[in-house]
Amino acid sequence: MQHSAMRQAITNGEQHLRPVLDDAQFARYVDIGLALRQAFRTPALRDDFIARLQPHRRLIIGSVPAGIQQHGMLPAHAPTHSLADISDADLAQWLVDDGRLIYGEFTQQELDRYFETLAPWLPAHGHFIDLGSGLGKVVMTAALALPGMRCTGVELLEYRHRMAQARLAGMLDAARTQDAAMADEIDARVRLLQQDMFEADVSDASLVFIYSTCFAPLMDRLGEKLARELPQGALVTTTTFPLLHPAFEPVQQFAAPSVAWTTVFLYRRRGALEALPPAPASYLYEQDGAAWEAAVRAAFAAYDAEQGA
Ligand SMILES: C[S@@+](CC[C@H](N)C(=O)[O-])C[C@H]1O[C@@H](n2cnc3c(N)ncnc32)[C@H](O)[C@@H]1O
Repeated sequence: MQHSAMRQAITNGEQHLRPVLDDAQFARYVDIGLALRQAFRTPALRDDFIARLQPHRRLIIGSVPAGIQQHGMLPAHAPTHSLADISDADLAQWLVDDGRLIYGEFTQQELDRYFETLAPWLPAHGHFIDLGSGLGKVVMTAALALPGMRCTGVELLEYRHRMAQARLAGMLDAARTQDAAMADEIDARVRLLQQDMFEADVSDASLVFIYSTCFAPLMDRLGEKLARELPQGALVTTTTFPLLHPAFEPVQQFAAPSVAWTTVFLYRRRGALEALPPAPASYLYEQDGAAWEAAVRAAFAAYDAEQGA
């Protein structure tokens, strides 16, 4: 199969080892995370844990925030603050940050289906952008699936950006063993940036991919940015959550599992934004309070059992 050595170099990343977050940029995230994790683990603090998180449960992906679980990126040491020291606003922002740092990716089959399915809508030439590009799998697959397009990935976390760079280098090495000119051509089209997606330049994008499954609270802000900055006619796909901004015309909805395990939404940027009404504030994800509390209490019990308590 064409590109087979390069495709083999696009490895899966769901199980990658997460390092401890020690970047100064995440100092506050770590502080609050440690206080929350201590409250989760300490029986006397658990009612407070529930009471503080309950009003913000729509910001939590699942029941217990990912960052305070085993696979989270918090250091092992004790907290310097207690949960009582953390304001409600800071706690809400922490939950948004925690959700967006969760890593997930499509399987290679899902990505192949995604690019095949979108082919009828795509121009021959243009610019593909993955906002929140993680370990670079989508960008690398796009570089092979969309030979006429430049492909850019924008990732916030330095370690993920570095892993993506190493993976891309591996793919290009595999290409070079077959055809040096092809490797150079792909190299010239692909860019990986370490940047906040809200600061990324999307002004010439033809297709923006967002694996938005953990971005529920960010969808309105993303919609605003893309509405302001995308050229007319640009395409956007999101996963799990729709883009409700009126600047976007829904083109298709690919229900699970036709393209992927979750719904994929396809939108087109409409004409002049000035003529459009403001986007409605949306609540995309609301967990039932009692069900959430029961799931958290079950997680307390599971944690205690694991500790042999
Ligand atoms: C669910 S993963 C998806 C990775 C990749 N797009 C894929 O589908 O394989 C979401 C990624 O977005 C990144 N992310 C979250 N907030 C971001 C931001 N503000 N700017 C850039 N990347 C961000 C996370 O670090 C994570 O790697």
